[in-house]
Amino acid sequence: MLLQLLTISVVISTGIAEYKNYDGFKILEVNFQNPRVKKYVQEIDKNLGFMPDFLGENWKQKQAHYFIDKDSVEKVRSNLAMNNITYQMRDVNPQLFKVRRKRRDLNGVVTINDVNNRYLSYDEQMQFLNTLSQQYPDDVKLQKLGNSYEGRALTAVRIGDDGSNKPIVWIDAGVHAREWISYNVALYLVYTIVTQPVYRDLLNSVQLIVVPNTNPDGYEYSRTNDRMWRKTRSRFSNSRCGGADANRNYPFFWGTQGVSHHQCSEIYCGSRPQSEPEVLALTNAIQREETRIKGYIALHSYGQEILYPWGHTMHTYPSDVKDLIRVGKAMAKAIKAVNNTDYNVVNSGDGLYPAAGASDDWAKSRGIKYSYTIELSPVDDYTGFVLPEERINQVCREAFQAIQVLMIEVKTMF
Ligand code: ARG
Ligand code: ZN
Repeated sequence: MLLQLLTISVVISTGIAEYKNYDGFKILEVNFQNPRVKKYVQEIDKNLGFMPDFLGENWKQKQAHYFIDKDSVEKVRSNLAMNNITYQMRDVNPQLFKVRRKRRDLNGVVTINDVNNRYLSYDEQMQFLNTLSQQYPDDVKLQKLGNSYEGRALTAVRIGDDGSNKPIVWIDAGVHAREWISYNVALYLVYTIVTQPVYRDLLNSVQLIVVPNTNPDGYEYSRTNDRMWRKTRSRFSNSRCGGADANRNYPFFWGTQGVSHHQCSEIYCGSRPQSEPEVLALTNAIQREETRIKGYIALHSYGQEILYPWGHTMHTYPSDVKDLIRVGKAMAKAIKAVNNTDYNVVNSGDGLYPAAGASDDWAKSRGIKYSYTIELSPVDDYTGFVLPEERINQVCREAFQAIQVLMIEVKTMF
């Protein structure tokens, strides 16, 4: 308690909290082309005796990336050597994780320029949406779905909601706090579809619901304390670790594969399905109109992949998987047309690891036909979650095209 008070007073007096230090951390990169290595990677938690923080994979080079803390580097090296696995241990530029976001004063209006050029605070995101809903009151309606653990509003943006019975495409962003690009993509999507007259027709036949920030507590924490924070910010009594992986907390095959039941794990699935208020709010909201929702995308980073169900286990597909692949490929093609960027369309369980309790699987289980997770850029460099701000706009423009493809696909689904 005393410690907490002290921390708070430091924050107040200097305006700057101690940012988590990643000196000495390394990125482990394993090429898993070889089946023997792939098997090692798929069982890396058993092999190492702990689950390293999986960052993402590079499907182009068939590499898996993990974040290794400085005290585990030697242990990991010797285990890899013992198993005859070739690998790279890359130094992390600790500066990447120390960038302190300038807090802009909220008197300045947040514009699309900001969305295109920098990562915004949660308050700025909300301010941007509020302004937009005031400018376009008929097209942009903000709906509060509930509160996060720390009491921040979880807001859905309803676009083209004219009370008629149109099919809905539902877009979620940022359930994983450190995947910052996803928030900008969602805001860019909202802005572009409302302000560009060419999308009027589309909005007459499809409704879009966007939840631009599904984990505001985690996101703010990643901005102010720990750039690599992934989970929610729930606190548990008698535990030194907090937060659950909200994308392991959905009520479908909850707690089975690719999860951890340990509170300190990055993939802690929570104490029970929907234990996280964020997940409860989202599942309730989706269920209220699930018969009309025909498309669902959870925006994540990184890896440039369009993932389709099922993802809770391997080699298991829904009966309409052909349709999911067809539309997935159409989305990838639309992305490529923007700037020749390649996205890979792949089953979410067949890659490196299945993961149960994720939102895409749950949405599919509720009958939402076209349900995907999109892992946004990058894929082929090591900035990973720390995508430079100069690259925000292109990723937004690419993802926008993919989402438009999905909207066109579902518009006749009634
Ligand atoms: N990177 C995402 C995660 O780990 C991928 C989730 C894909 N979906 C799935 N059901 N496995 O949460
Ligand atoms: Zn993610």
